Amino acid sequence: MSLEPKVYIVGAGPGDVELITVKGMRVLQQADVVIYTDSLVRDELVEFAKPDASVYKSAGMALEDIVNLMVTAVGEGKSVARVHTGDPSVFGAILEQVAMLRKAGVAYEIVPGVSSVFAAAAAVGAELTVPDLTQTVILTRMGGRTPMPQGEQLSGLARHHCTIALYLSATLAKKAVDEFLEAGWDTQTPVAVVHKATWPDQKIIRTTLSGLVRAMGDAHISSHAMILAGWALHPELPEKGDYKSKLYDKSFTHRYRKGEVAVD
Ligand SMILES: C[S@@+](CC[C@H](N)C(=O)[O-])C[C@H]1O[C@@H](n2cnc3c(N)ncnc32)[C@H](O)[C@@H]1O
Repeated sequence: MSLEPKVYIVGAGPGDVELITVKGMRVLQQADVVIYTDSLVRDELVEFAKPDASVYKSAGMALEDIVNLMVTAVGEGKSVARVHTGDPSVFGAILEQVAMLRKAGVAYEIVPGVSSVFAAAAAVGAELTVPDLTQTVILTRMGGRTPMPQGEQLSGLARHHCTIALYLSATLAKKAVDEFLEAGWDTQTPVAVVHKATWPDQKIIRTTLSGLVRAMGDAHISSHAMILAGWALHPELPEKGDYKSKLYDKSFTHRYRKGEVAVD
């Protein structure tokens, strides 16, 4: 199946070139024009573009230049792969591009990807939603140069005592710890930090709220990091074995298995 003359906004995944979706890879291999976020998407991935594709790095380009490039290419009947890190829908800055594409009457399609939150969870071998512990994950960031909307400060969100994934917050660990404590979190709450998840130079830190700032400093991590916090990150949870889901419980029945109690 060949591509249409439109913009494909593709999630590249967290880094490992095998973690792009099959569809994302097909778009990348067939696109006439490839524009990728070179600050976070690996060059090795872009080598899958066809030899005569025009390839551009977007990190040094302004929004208008990126969109003009896409609009012109589609106007010439070409397909464009606009490749973003992780999943485009999370801190991907795609809305501003989509708004301008729509205004220009250019068709687009979004191809999802593996967000760094899931790559980081996999790297530390964690399930982020653990029965009877937490069934909620909040994906957020610390307010810095980009302020948080009202009501979305970490100190408020953390009152849910669920799993919290912090994007774009590697330089704001101290502020994060202060806000977790303000929300009533225990200083011993487990925290995992994964720097450049799935890249060859990936680093993993397992610590607690009280040890976070020092551990990140010792590991020289100040960018490209996913901070996962909450009791679901406890490294010894698998040994405890007392957090079991209903899904595989013998006494529960569902559409695929008969048992004693019905669940969806
Ligand atoms: C502009 S946001 C893009 C997020 C991306 N859309 C995603 O779904 O992962 C960049 C932030 O995502 C996180 N990030 C992206 N790739 C990462 C990776 N391979 N390892 C750890 N964190 C990563 C970091 O928090 C980084 O500061």
